[in-house]
Amino acid sequence: MKIVEEPLTRLTEHGQVPIAFEVKSRFRTDPVDGGLGGIALVEEPVHPSYVKDYDRTSEEGPAGWLGRWRERWDTSAWGMLAAYDGSRRVGGAVLARRTDRVNMLEGRDDLTVLWDLRVHPDYRGTGFGRALFEATVEWARRHGCVELKIETQNNNVPACRFYARQGCRLGAIISNAYEEFPDEIQLIWRLPI
Ligand SMILES: CC(C)(COP(=O)(O)OP(=O)(O)OC[C@H]1O[C@@H](n2cnc3c(N)ncnc32)[C@H](O)[C@@H]1OP(=O)(O)O)[C@@H](O)C(=O)NCCC(=O)NCCS
Repeated sequence: MKIVEEPLTRLTEHGQVPIAFEVKSRFRTDPVDGGLGGIALVEEPVHPSYVKDYDRTSEEGPAGWLGRWRERWDTSAWGMLAAYDGSRRVGGAVLARRTDRVNMLEGRDDLTVLWDLRVHPDYRGTGFGRALFEATVEWARRHGCVELKIETQNNNVPACRFYARQGCRLGAIISNAYEEFPDEIQLIWRLPI
């Protein structure tokens, strides 16, 4: 296993690693004691299961959105990590920081957003995600950041469990965040680093 930093000009190769996963369950959000006791995330099965593919659900069209990041924003401060098994590219992470007009960055200079994280389905559950996450934390620290922020959704239970396992804490639960996907709930994870 090898993790290397690569320029964003290699985003197309990053996008060749599938990001799709099967949604077999989702988190329901249940207010506890009317919300005074917080909000419980309760896992419930999804029947029938379906495939969610972030590369194919953007309004900008199939696989097009990856390429558009660089058209849309000045990504000169961003970073990209790639995971290799020998010479095979099996995963990667795209990291955003210091960019105007990226709301997720909150106008802060000391925040890194883990923008895109993916491990090839054949390699999931074998430690590549954790290695990429650890390299992300190291990259963010090296660039003067004090916090990592990640967006996911209530129908990505594996990613939520993965982020929680890495020490992230749920910072926000936002319904109606996605016009295109009214049933999905946005979950924001944070990790002080
Ligand atoms: C989420 C993802 C990146 C995790 O990567 P991974 O390589 O499968 O994760 P790892 O094997 O490194 O697991 C690291 C830890 O998280 C835990 N974990 C990973 N997936 C989990 C799951 N589905 N349920 C519970 N725990 C899980 C592992 O048990 C492991 O714990 P350990 O450190 O105690 O051994 C990967 O599943 C993936 O590419 N998913 C599809 C794309 C995606 O959803 N990206 C995130 C978008 S927000």
